[in-house]
Amino acid sequence: MSSRENLVLTGFMGSGKSSIGRLIARKLGYRFTDTDRIVSREAGVTIPEIFAREGEASFREWESRALESLKGSKGLVVATGGGIILRERNRTLLNQLGFVVWLQACEDVLFERVSRNDRRPLLRTANPRETIHRLLEERSPLYAAAAAYVLDTSRLTHEEAARDVISEAKRRGLCQSGE
Ligand code: S3P
Repeated sequence: MSSRENLVLTGFMGSGKSSIGRLIARKLGYRFTDTDRIVSREAGVTIPEIFAREGEASFREWESRALESLKGSKGLVVATGGGIILRERNRTLLNQLGFVVWLQACEDVLFERVSRNDRRPLLRTANPRETIHRLLEERSPLYAAAAAYVLDTSRLTHEEAARDVISEAKRRGLCQSGE
């Protein structure tokens, strides 16, 4: 591995960060981690419970601490919560941590994917479709600012997306192991 020791996946809710991240980790022999999982473990409650009890601002504090806790790690594939790019400090930390990939998907695909469950507090609104549209407008420039590589996963299987990210990382000399 080069100085960019880890692979970091960003993107909107439903963009496939966790599923694709797990696949990449398995293929490369890296460990997989997820900032939401760290938050939930540290807080001792689920993400929806944090939002319900403490609100979004508190969740963002937990999320930043989770990201800070990964400093100095190596050999990780890190899936991040969809809003992690909102803070400038987080965007800097993501880039220090590794090769930042923005997993993009079109609005229709994201809506279809997130509608499969109601685990996401920010989408428990009267019109989730409109909420997605608004959040995407706000966030897209921030995902772009934080990313070293952008992949549109709308028409890709998880397997195809994982292969693409790995080959791009290898093309840049960022990882050697795996397939
Ligand atoms: C959020 C995305 C969620 C989770 C929280 C807030 C967001 O993660 O961090 O519900 O602000 O987009 P996923 O992107 O993994 O769904």
